[in-house]
Amino acid sequence: MYVCICQGVNEKTIRSAMEQGATTVGDLKRCAGVGTACGQCLPRLDEMVRSCQESRRSFRFTDTVATPV
Ligand code: FES
Repeated sequence: MYVCICQGVNEKTIRSAMEQGATTVGDLKRCAGVGTACGQCLPRLDEMVRSCQESRRSFRFTDTVATPV
């Protein structure tokens, strides 16, 4: 499903960018070009970033293993 119609970027691409280290909407703008035209996708991008941050917080990182808490 497309998240940013203007740039033709889908959800899979956004998730991949976040897995590779994008942690803010600004990061996504820079690396995927999303949200840089009409801005209609910005609320969805913000929602995806927040969801990713919450997922990361639900894991406790030890030296070598991420453990769900
Ligand atoms: S839909 Fe993303 S900038 Fe227009």
